[in-house]
Amino acid sequence: MKRVIVTGGAGFIGSALVRRLVKDTGYDVLNLDKLTYAGNLHSLREVEDSPRYRFARVDIADAARVERIFSEFRPHAVVHLAAESHVDRSIEGPETFLHANVVGTCTLLTEARRYWECLRGAAADEFRFHHVSTDEVFGELGREGRFTEASPYRPNSPYAASKAAADHFVRAWSRTYGLPVVLSNCSNNYGPYQFPEKLIPLVIIKCLRRETVPVYGKGEQVRDWLFVDDHVAALQLILERGHPGESYNVGGASEWRNIDIVHRLCDLLDRHCGGNGASHRGLIRFVDDRPGHDFRYAIDFTKLEGTLGWRPRETLESGLASTVRWYLDNRWWWEPILARRYAGQRLGVVAGRQKAV
Ligand code: NAD
Ligand code: TYD
Repeated sequence: MKRVIVTGGAGFIGSALVRRLVKDTGYDVLNLDKLTYAGNLHSLREVEDSPRYRFARVDIADAARVERIFSEFRPHAVVHLAAESHVDRSIEGPETFLHANVVGTCTLLTEARRYWECLRGAAADEFRFHHVSTDEVFGELGREGRFTEASPYRPNSPYAASKAAADHFVRAWSRTYGLPVVLSNCSNNYGPYQFPEKLIPLVIIKCLRRETVPVYGKGEQVRDWLFVDDHVAALQLILERGHPGESYNVGGASEWRNIDIVHRLCDLLDRHCGGNGASHRGLIRFVDDRPGHDFRYAIDFTKLEGTLGWRPRETLESGLASTVRWYLDNRWWWEPILARRYAGQRLGVVAGRQKAV
């Protein structure tokens, strides 16, 4: 494998993958990204001068431009991460999610197929389309059990529904046209360069600014937290050694209630910048719950561990400590976002919502 297109490479996980591939492999990497509110080229500062990195500002739903990228760059693989990714925004505006996640993925699949069908022999066999998806397509769990690759699809939010639709199209392109796809479904990621709309960076930044910290409902929902560098290690492994037509679950083996995460972050920040003695826990406010809030996600990654030998390295303790340290040391990255793109306000509240029957 020599040339890899990473879609969404200016986002949180995509930029971590691009940094890894440019620094740790000999691949030429083309970052194909529309630069929505969540796309940030500053996240690529470490690799932007590399001769093996290039960037194209393109919407994945723009067929003509995507086709040109394929025919000029001639990739050996595509890792598809470009998406609208925030559940709360999907509650406010599902149409954008339909465009990016469903129409965009279909367009990319169509252009990947057109390109792949012109390849011959080993080049065709070795081509990969790796679609990066979420555990949220499987819906919610009760207190017991974990999602496996065979779990039924039961998406609940517009975000999850759009990702589920994309997963189904990817599967259909594999079964119908023989496109060599691999799919991975991962749990909640956290780490450096995450846009501050998501729980962990939002809490850190709210604490640093001594603003109130919103916890939805009673904070009892459970997520399985995966450190982003562990995730991109899994993505590289699946890309290089995953079996075409297969899907792989990627999880952090790290289930925590939201309130426990928030308490841990507050305690870490007390240690770094206790200052006036008032604990950051005093900033916590319980606010109206998210509509349709999934109770619990948890991933069984036995298949990935058994077939490709992957396990997460980071514990929640080590991962949260390095993430807090990163946000403390990298205000240059997040302060302009707060000033210009997203000021930390509540998103995804539906006025007068009826209870589902
Ligand atoms: P992100 O929101 O940080 O980044 C998304 C990137 O995609 C941005 O750079 C944005 O500009 C780009 N993009 C959006 N629409 C586009 C379009 N139409 N054309 C081209 N580029 C477009 O997202 P993330 O957290 O890095 O997530 C990356 C992928 O991983 C997504 O597919 C997401 O569904 C999936 N995922 C994320 C998590 C998580 O915890 N963050 C968990 C499971 C799966
Ligand atoms: P989030 O980071 O948005 O990821 P996802 O919805 O994809 O799991 O949210 C993680 C959890 O934290 C989720 O249960 C919602 C909750 N949450 C809050 O309690 N307060 C917040 O301000 C946010 C953004 C999320």
